[in-house]
Amino acid sequence: MKASVFDQQHSPTLSVQEGYTAWAATYDEMKAGSLMDYPLLARIQAVAWGQLEAVADLACGTGRTGVWLKEHGVRFLDGVDLTEAMLEQARAKGIYRRLSLADLRQTPLSAHSYDLVSVGLADEHLPELLPLYQEAARLVRPAGYLVLVGYHPFFQLSGVPTTFEQRTGEPATIEGYVYLFSAHVQAANECGWLLRELHERLIDEAWIARPSASPASGSSGPRMLAGRGRPRKRLARRTR
Ligand SMILES: C[S@@+](CC[C@H](N)C(=O)[O-])C[C@H]1O[C@@H](n2cnc3c(N)ncnc32)[C@H](O)[C@@H]1O
Repeated sequence: MKASVFDQQHSPTLSVQEGYTAWAATYDEMKAGSLMDYPLLARIQAVAWGQLEAVADLACGTGRTGVWLKEHGVRFLDGVDLTEAMLEQARAKGIYRRLSLADLRQTPLSAHSYDLVSVGLADEHLPELLPLYQEAARLVRPAGYLVLVGYHPFFQLSGVPTTFEQRTGEPATIEGYVYLFSAHVQAANECGWLLRELHERLIDEAWIARPSASPASGSSGPRMLAGRGRPRKRLARRTR
């Protein structure tokens, strides 16, 4: 179901490419983004990050997740994203072996070449989940992993879609869809994935105690924080 059904903010809605093209230059200033999902990544028990040879980072965006992966010892990172302006930011970080402008549902990456596939904060932009899990299954080696960090549907259902502040100061929403966890589990199971871990983060004491938004994020901070909300993270292992 479209997230717009629950939208209480009623900002203008942009397509994925329009939205992230407009957001790309300031996306990394949303320091709170990393406060949201880096701690979740750190909770994963099953993955020995430092032993991963190759990771496919789907919807890599500016490379924010890629930075975390490199810091945790991943050797080679290949990134894919639909928005050239986001890829430009990722390219500037110099951490990717390869970056491709492509849809994560049909990437140019080689089959069965990755120890792990990561998908960060992108599933809510897909009209269907199955192609994501299918493509991830095509990319991983046998017994490889998929780590998916997503925007928690609690926030969308509470009326807060993916929102950012444009250069004009006006908020904008990026088109999205709401998926319950059961939809993810069903789509993943169809592709042979087995759920190994599920972590959630909503509004908690650590979040409330976070340092206030940096000057870089300026007045847009609270709105963007509210817009992005806290993600959930799932880890699945390919079984066949
Ligand atoms: C919120 S950003 C997340 C970027 C990065 N993973 C992170 O966590 O910071 C969402 C990204 O998903 C990308 N995206 C959305 N739909 C996509 C698709 N079908 N294929 C590839 N990239 C997509 C957008 O272009 C954008 O860069």
